[in-house]
Amino acid sequence: MAGKKITDSKKKPPRAPDSEGQGIGESDVQDEALDNAEPLQMAAEAEGGAEFPQTDSGLSTNDSGIITDYEASIPIVIPPGARSPVDDIIEVLHREVIGQDRAIDAIARALLRSREGFRTPGRPISTMFFAGPTGVGKTETVRALARALHNDYRAILKVDCSEYSEPHAIARLIGAPPGYIGSDLPAILSKENVEGTVNRLILFDEIEKAHFRLHNLLLQIMDEGHITLARRTKDDPGEVSFEDCIVVMTSNVGASDIDKILRQNRIGFRNAEMGADLKTDQQIYVAAKEALKNIFSPEFRNRLTEFIVFRALDRPSLYKILQKLLNISAERFAGLGFKLQLNDEVRDWLVDRGMDSELGVRPLVRAVEKYIDTKVAELHAYGLIHEGDLLEARIEETGELASDGITPKSEIVFYRTPRSNEQGRRKRKLPAKNQRTEIILRY
Ligand SMILES: Nc1ncnc2c1ncn2[C@@H]1O[C@H](COP(=O)(O)OP(=O)(O)OP(=O)(O)O)[C@@H](O)[C@H]1O
Ligand SMILES: [Mg+2]
Repeated sequence: MAGKKITDSKKKPPRAPDSEGQGIGESDVQDEALDNAEPLQMAAEAEGGAEFPQTDSGLSTNDSGIITDYEASIPIVIPPGARSPVDDIIEVLHREVIGQDRAIDAIARALLRSREGFRTPGRPISTMFFAGPTGVGKTETVRALARALHNDYRAILKVDCSEYSEPHAIARLIGAPPGYIGSDLPAILSKENVEGTVNRLILFDEIEKAHFRLHNLLLQIMDEGHITLARRTKDDPGEVSFEDCIVVMTSNVGASDIDKILRQNRIGFRNAEMGADLKTDQQIYVAAKEALKNIFSPEFRNRLTEFIVFRALDRPSLYKILQKLLNISAERFAGLGFKLQLNDEVRDWLVDRGMDSELGVRPLVRAVEKYIDTKVAELHAYGLIHEGDLLEARIEETGELASDGITPKSEIVFYRTPRSNEQGRRKRKLPAKNQRTEIILRY
């Protein structure tokens, strides 16, 4: 069951030493969200501590079937088939976001706690901080959450923090007082936008790029659950409440260290070994946590409900994401009236071209755009494929050698079987490749 921790009740809750190896000191404010965050287990294991749960969802159970949440170490008995109120949301997240099961489990816990009334009154429902490498699904998870909550992935009030690196820019968020430049413009964090029915999911994207005045505004949101706009009148005190909002901040904190780790370990895409990925996850977590400490004050860190570090994706996850991207393309082609067929060789070829551990999934998204979507769009625009045609992509060797002088160069080749031909072939029960299937593009 998604979103619940299952572990051996006899084990102590695993805790990680901090990077100095002393644990979080007395004088340090207790970074509760950090301490509760799951990847700490990874660090604990690295130190020979608690065993890391091995199931897909990061859960394990003891023989008696008693399930415990190791954060609280209180046994919970979940009858078979029972569902929690957040299971529908979590199912959408698992469907849309690939290979980030631990992050999704952490989100599930946060949502479940708040649904069950375990939230501090006068504060947002949850304040989550997503860190980790670039292009691995942080923003995508927020979009999926919007779809799960509002059936619309655009139902997000997004604040692009890179636009708020100057102190005066904050006026765009809370409005400017009368007489100041921009006083006629509406505040982005207006009552209407924040308390409206669809925009209850507020995303502060790339938060580390914002001026500290925006960090302070967020501190106020996390602490008091509301802000006061610059423009106030006797009738309108200009208060905007975030109490019914889920606030998500995404960040690339520690990006350069994370890049270094990915380069050194060359993980995931080439090396899908569990051990290698786990070690990298641990290192990325420590790097992100350390960078967070350098950028954000203890007060800020301590008010986060969840600190979630996304992992670098492995090759099997890339294949699943590729299939998702191809399904989206197939829907578009179906809209134009034809079908595209491709085999595993084409999939391997695309994953090879879209594989870059430091850049996450974006190169794969670009590879599908470049080699499939754009080419098919061109074929359609020039009238080389028509409604009802069957289009097939194959990989063929060009007869030349790649720059290493050993590997044969290959290219993608599009074959077209016209509709009439295809229908006739089916009627006559002829094999798939008949004479009239023609090559229409080599690329
Ligand atoms: N885990 C994933 N599951 C499904 N699709 C993904 C995943 N990760 C990335 N993608 C795809 O890659 C694109 C980029 O991902 P996303 O915007 O979530 O990156 P990010 O982690 O927010 O990176 P950055 O830190 O650079 O903003 C998405 O639009 C999506 O198509
Ligand atoms: Mg992002």
